[in-house]
Amino acid sequence: MADMSGGVALITGGASGIGLAMAEAFAGRALKLVLCDRDVTALEKAAAGLTASGAQVLAIPLDVCDRAAWRNAAVSAKEFGRLRIVCANAGISPAGTPLSETSPEAWDRIVSINLTAVYNTVYATTSLIKEHGEGGHIVLTSSMAGMLSASAIGDYAVTKFGVSAMGEALRAELAPHNIGVSILYPGVVATPLVGDSFSIGMAPGAVAMKVLAGIDANQEYLFTHGDYRALVEERFKAILESFGASAQVGFTEADSVLTMMTPYTR
Ligand SMILES: NC(=O)c1ccc[n+]([C@@H]2O[C@H](COP(=O)([O-])OP(=O)(O)OC[C@H]3O[C@@H](n4cnc5c(N)ncnc54)[C@H](O)[C@@H]3O)[C@@H](O)[C@H]2O)c1
Repeated sequence: MADMSGGVALITGGASGIGLAMAEAFAGRALKLVLCDRDVTALEKAAAGLTASGAQVLAIPLDVCDRAAWRNAAVSAKEFGRLRIVCANAGISPAGTPLSETSPEAWDRIVSINLTAVYNTVYATTSLIKEHGEGGHIVLTSSMAGMLSASAIGDYAVTKFGVSAMGEALRAELAPHNIGVSILYPGVVATPLVGDSFSIGMAPGAVAMKVLAGIDANQEYLFTHGDYRALVEERFKAILESFGASAQVGFTEADSVLTMMTPYTR
């Protein structure tokens, strides 16, 4: 990471789990912290803990789905200091039903929090990084479910694939502004989001260290759980094996279209 000390890192879902661990890691790099979370009790507790350990913290109670509230949050963040890092991290777990049986209410809720609100975060904050001209970094929290879809977590996977696509598009778009973009793909992490669903999960602090290293190296894809490599390989192998000649004999896609589809920063 370029030296961003004294700058501000804004983290949504910063009151708990992976978001709080990232906040702690950024405090270790002398960044000021803006924690945004809708859980006011957890937010106050997290802010108090970080402040006690010497960090400068601005806690903003915020529902990331609320665009009007985002406008106020952006003003407060700007007054607090130069925004260098944004982590769009707040999220909820799957409804736990097969995708075709997921209720419209559950579907709307998860898309709103896990996908649309990631866009809200980017829309509200990117101009704050652009305007001071010193560059910065955006981290979008996807999931291994943003690389591998499965029925039981179908609603969640749809949102996390969306976050992944958002990160790839933004990375190319923001590189000329000296803003790096990384997409985080954790497997199971021991946080309240998974609760007791799994007997074991990775420590959030270990995930946060991977994020720091990923920002330092301006790495696009941040994988924390090496065990998934073989499954991802199988998925891409199946995709590549499914390509053949174009459906229309002799048809060639226009260069302008292929160029548009080619990210220029890998
Ligand atoms: N824990 C895992 O195993 C795991 C794995 C892969 C990806 N993730 C992703 O990591 C991110 C963080 O999850 P976590 O595991 O740290 O969970 P967590 O429940 O510990 O933290 C999530 C935080 O987001 C906040 N939040 C939820 N909805 C919000 C909203 N509408 N507005 C503002 N804040 C809101 C919660 O209050 C909470 O503090 C999520 O996007 C999640 O999907 C988690």
